[in-house]
Amino acid sequence: MKFFVDTADVKEIRELNALGLLDGVTTNPSLILKSGGDIKKVTKEICSIVDGPVSAEVVATEYDQMMREAKILAKIASNVCIKVPLTLDGLRACKSIRSDLNRDVNVTLCFSANQALLAAKAGATFISPFVGRIDDTGSDGMELIAEIKTIYDNYDFTTEILTASVRTVNHVKQAALIGAHVVTAPPATLRALVSHPLTDKGLAAFLADWAKTGQKIG
Ligand code: E4P
Repeated sequence: MKFFVDTADVKEIRELNALGLLDGVTTNPSLILKSGGDIKKVTKEICSIVDGPVSAEVVATEYDQMMREAKILAKIASNVCIKVPLTLDGLRACKSIRSDLNRDVNVTLCFSANQALLAAKAGATFISPFVGRIDDTGSDGMELIAEIKTIYDNYDFTTEILTASVRTVNHVKQAALIGAHVVTAPPATLRALVSHPLTDKGLAAFLADWAKTGQKIG
């Protein structure tokens, strides 16, 4: 399973990348706003830190302008993955970006299995179902991940399921159990994956006993 971090915070990305666990980055207009930076400068800096795909989102809603923006974003770095919304214009742009610009495309704002089916038919590299936002409405976001997995497997679609809007470590575990290809999570959620009270307790006990031996390894 690939781990992407869902942030435009360059400091966080640098720290997580140093751990060697990062396979890519996802950003969106809200995350760019939160970073306080210019989209082109921030995206360029992120692309220089991380080797994997860095999703940068078009903000146009109409095909021609989407394509203009996609070309500008694609010029920033070779690992920019163009993010487009799950609309008819977005799907058309997805197809063109894949064939004409030969770029990875992340189709975002997916809330149904049929939308995911359309994205796969449009040749999307990634489909981003927003599990947390579905949970917020009282439905189960993970059911959507399972449905998409079944549909993609039924037809051998190569589009990767990028579990997005992740809020908890349990979302990560469930996505992995279903077999989603990628999870994108906020930095705090990625860091929380390592935590277990018994690990902390066990380490404290080992270190206390080690101190009593009076020995040193190096
Ligand atoms: C994915 O690419 C989106 O940026 C993100 O996961 C949205 O998450 P949110 O619902 O927490 O805003």
